[in-house]
Amino acid sequence: MINVLVTGGAGFIGGNFVRYALKKHPDWRIVNLDKLTYAGRKENLSDIEQDPDTASRYQFVLGDIADASVVDPLFDEEKFTYAFNFAAETHVDRSIGDPGGFIQTDVYGTYVLLEAGKRNDLKRFVQISTDEVYGSIDEGSFTETDLITPRNPYSASKAGADRLAYSYFSTYGMDVVVTRASNNYGPYQYPEKLVPLFVTNALEDLPLPLYGDGKNIRDWLHVDDHCSGLDFVCAKGKAGEVYNIGGGNERMNIEITGLILKTLNKPDTLIKPVEDRLGHDRRYSVSTEKLQSLGWKSEKDFETGIVETIKWYENNREWWEPIKSGEYKEYYESMYRDRLDKAS
Ligand code: NAD
Ligand code: TYD
Repeated sequence: MINVLVTGGAGFIGGNFVRYALKKHPDWRIVNLDKLTYAGRKENLSDIEQDPDTASRYQFVLGDIADASVVDPLFDEEKFTYAFNFAAETHVDRSIGDPGGFIQTDVYGTYVLLEAGKRNDLKRFVQISTDEVYGSIDEGSFTETDLITPRNPYSASKAGADRLAYSYFSTYGMDVVVTRASNNYGPYQYPEKLVPLFVTNALEDLPLPLYGDGKNIRDWLHVDDHCSGLDFVCAKGKAGEVYNIGGGNERMNIEITGLILKTLNKPDTLIKPVEDRLGHDRRYSVSTEKLQSLGWKSEKDFETGIVETIKWYENNREWWEPIKSGEYKEYYESMYRDRLDKAS
């Protein structure tokens, strides 16, 4: 068995990756180290824990990646071959209100993992970075050698981790690869992000708070394509390199909003233009030529994938209803109440 560490596997992308990787690699055993913040849900992987094909190859460990008293003994015991670092504070809006936790987890936590990996002769450390480290681009697409100019505390802390991971390659010769993916969509995404927030609000006939003029552009990547890209980079990427993972599906937020309403047969009157996000990046765009030249490409057709995703939230109310009725309510009120009041 090949022992693999996944951090943040109780979250959106990490959880989808655990499911993907256990099915793809029958010889992988995955340890999921997760702190279970507001965004982490152990139940996301209950199917994996119950399936006889995967149950014995999956273990959940509750813990903080920034806590060396948890991370160090885990590395010593498990002798991991690969580590995939998904664990992070991930929501731009929360980072604007309170950046401290982002620096602690995204930067310091990555440092703790890198140290443990270095001491334990880890074969490959995959740092899950983001296209947001490049900052905003009005025209054209970023390539991996472009300067990174992150513009909010989330993307800046991810950029810190991205370059810190690289420094363990350039300084200590550790095998590190860094991936920078575009905006993911798919099942199990916490309903603070655009797609699940707007889908679940529409299902409840609540307003969809669209920031600014709604013309900000994101490139949408199905989470399964992100998982296949990460698996590919782990197998075929070169140590010390950065790889963009994009979907090639650039859409304005207003277009995504329209698609959601149309699919759910809800009226456009639910759209509420609200005060913009501070420092709101206008457009993200990455070139995926580097990874494509090695043989990877995204497979999911966007129009099919987004409708499947919308339907998933429609058919899995038992997943998001308890989230939205809990402490989330306070978050939602503080983030949107003033904006929505001003807009009406
Ligand atoms: P998420 O917020 O859904 O999940 C984050 C997970 O990390 C949660 O399970 C949480 O409990 C865990 N976590 C947070 N702090 C931790 C800590 N200190 N120790 C251990 N676990 C901790 O995030 P996501 O959207 O799945 O993103 C996963 C990774 O992918 C992040 O590194 C993010 O920067 C990156 N990424 C995300 C996107 C996107 O569109 N969502 C795009 C590109 C890259
Ligand atoms: P988000 O899902 O937070 O991802 P990111 O900011 O990391 O790209 O937001 C995606 C886009 O949707 C971004 O341009 C901000 C916009 N947005 C809204 O218009 N309203 C909202 O309530 C949210 C959460 C996002």
